[in-house]
Amino acid sequence: MRVLFVASECDPWVKTGGLGDVVAALPAALARAGVEVRVCLPFYRSVRRQVDAARSCATVLGTVIREARLPSGVPVYAVDAPWLFDRDGGPYQDRSGQDWADNGARFGLFGRVSAILASAESPLTWRPDIWHGHDWQAGLGPLWLKNGLARPAASLMTIHNLAFQGLFPPNLVATLGLPPATYAVEGAEFYGQLSFLKAGLHYACALTTVSPRYACEIQEETHGCGLQGLLRRRAGDLTGIVNGIDEQVWDPARDPLIEARYDARDCAGKRLNKESLQRRFGLSIDPARPLLVTVSRLTWQKGIDIAVGVADAWVEAGGQWIVLGSGEPDLEATVRALADRHPQAIAAHIGFDETLAHRLEAGADLFLMPSRFEPCGLNQMYSQRYGTLPVARATGGLADTIEDVDGDGATGTGFLFDEASPAGLWGALARALSVYRDPPRFAALRARAMSRHFSWEQSAARYADIYERLSRAPC
Ligand code: ADP
Ligand code: GLC
Repeated sequence: MRVLFVASECDPWVKTGGLGDVVAALPAALARAGVEVRVCLPFYRSVRRQVDAARSCATVLGTVIREARLPSGVPVYAVDAPWLFDRDGGPYQDRSGQDWADNGARFGLFGRVSAILASAESPLTWRPDIWHGHDWQAGLGPLWLKNGLARPAASLMTIHNLAFQGLFPPNLVATLGLPPATYAVEGAEFYGQLSFLKAGLHYACALTTVSPRYACEIQEETHGCGLQGLLRRRAGDLTGIVNGIDEQVWDPARDPLIEARYDARDCAGKRLNKESLQRRFGLSIDPARPLLVTVSRLTWQKGIDIAVGVADAWVEAGGQWIVLGSGEPDLEATVRALADRHPQAIAAHIGFDETLAHRLEAGADLFLMPSRFEPCGLNQMYSQRYGTLPVARATGGLADTIEDVDGDGATGTGFLFDEASPAGLWGALARALSVYRDPPRFAALRARAMSRHFSWEQSAARYADIYERLSRAPC
């Protein structure tokens, strides 16, 4: 079975969120399960800088296809189009946080090239059975596979976040040379705009998303982002497969990025990690104070404003909070102002810092994720591995991967709440606080969380089943 993985991020070369982690880890897990996977990525400047040798092996539509290898050994086809991808800044935005004005052209060409590589028109000898694309940036791939390419691979589209749709003005249809008939309600048109994501969801042979609960939620208006009708119609082709985590990278017993390593049997290192965080951030150095952390994009999705709404009460109750993240300027400013107001209890690090993310997981007592919606979420799984109990909203993958602690703490691995409001969140924090104040109970809960496994193997097997099914009966 040969699979071409088509995505806009892949850790460690380019990552803005969980998509980068998944595109790094899942192909490696699939390869262990016997699937032959290659990853197709844009050849961004950041990739060019990190890849030693990227031999050119073909040209497609004026782009150069370069071969490289991920640290895991998985082969990569990087689409080199310097006028689109060789620039400073992020994969989607410039340094000031503005979307690149030519994102439609950038990912339009990327999707089309990926589709050609999965058809008889590919100049490569390696030909996939399955084209597997991720999120809107890959969305035009299935459209091209279904419209004129010879002997196309079967296609699978994975939704990591339905809220990002890749919407562009209709004149892009002509600019990209899309067959005019594809710009239709039964196609890539979405309320007068060209939707890359809708194209993917309409034309792909099968669909997945990153948790079973989110697979249900996106068929309803609240989380369907206007695509609930299409998704309901395609419910029979839609599967929710929960993400795993890379248990090599996220393992407190072996993590080279943290100061003191520890495991479920001996958590002494965790105390040292906590003290060092309190010192580094100028918080009062006190092992008894519950330390809550957040590592997140600072956006509406993540419910940061909900967390801000309980911050004063949390400090009042003796708690501390460290936030690592970046995103919407007003949320960054709000979090900074809170830290200024409570210098010994709240700290903010605005930016993206992988090492610090590991240290926060290792040193904290509790991890906060008050997301309004969360297709899967990875940090709640990292947190359980690190004995940092998640406090999270019962939505999407958070509800699927955290077992809520019952009244007396005899079962469960975290604290879930339903209502997306400060009052809702406070209910969960108050429960966490009461268990925290009973150290033997808290230690037992922590040990239970640390014993859970979230490896990729099971999920990879489920993707492999879908590939098998599609290769027998493509659409
Ligand atoms: P999303 O993809 O919606 O942002 P996930 O929970 O799936 O959410 O994944 C987020 C990933 O990005 C995690 O690996 C998390 O540790 C990482 N991350 C997010 N913000 C930061 C940051 N400011 N610094 C370091 N890592 C971050
Ligand atoms: C998206 C989602 C997140 C998910 C990640 C990886 O960015 O917001 O919940 O974990 O993709 O699938």
